[in-house]
Amino acid sequence: MKVIFNIRRFDGEKDYWQSFAVPVFRGMTLLEGLFYIKENLDGSLAFRASCRMGVCGSCAVKVNGKPVLACETQISSVNSSKLDIEPIDNFRVIKDLVTDFEGFFRKHEAVKPYLIRNDDNYENPVELIQTPKQMKSYYTFSLCIKCGACYSVCPAAATRSDYLGPAAITAAWRFIADSRDEGKEERYEAVCGDNGVWRCHFAAECSEVCPKKVEPAKAVQKMRIRTALHAIKKVIL
Ligand code: FES
Repeated sequence: MKVIFNIRRFDGEKDYWQSFAVPVFRGMTLLEGLFYIKENLDGSLAFRASCRMGVCGSCAVKVNGKPVLACETQISSVNSSKLDIEPIDNFRVIKDLVTDFEGFFRKHEAVKPYLIRNDDNYENPVELIQTPKQMKSYYTFSLCIKCGACYSVCPAAATRSDYLGPAAITAAWRFIADSRDEGKEERYEAVCGDNGVWRCHFAAECSEVCPKKVEPAKAVQKMRIRTALHAIKKVIL
């Protein structure tokens, strides 16, 4: 059986669609289909992939209108004999299915996605023990693989390219919810600016498409509540 891969390509100057007939086998993934094209039909096709097991987050593409991880999506699960495959939205396209993630990663950097401690002591490090309950409060949000699927469907990111976006705000919340972290003030400041949490329209599409079920929409709402309470406390005290 053959499935048509109809791919939206970009050569640096113009956009065009190109179709390839790909022989599929049971369990074959979309990524395997792309590799089949590259190895047998057109070596110039550009796409990004690394781990091939849903961990690195580099293979997100849009299939029949929905962002998915190419390595985790079985062709049969799309249930169509023709697949329209495009680069994910809200990112600049470099070539074919390869998009530019530099700005996306810069937004992560801005929210300081790492533990901040006042007692950093690399010579005599101390063990920071947590209860299972403490860990549970951030665990789901730590599963993000930064594939960009959430950002690609975000209406706020579509209208403002400087909006931090669901993935970066989730990364900030993951550390704010962590009992070991002492950098909350710095992060509140990073996420409360003009391009921060209050730009979210709560379309919640980000949670809908997240391949790791991280629930970025929930993280953004939690962040809004926390930062609002923080601001109120500051006024009262
Ligand atoms: S290739 Fe790593 S997540 Fe798909």
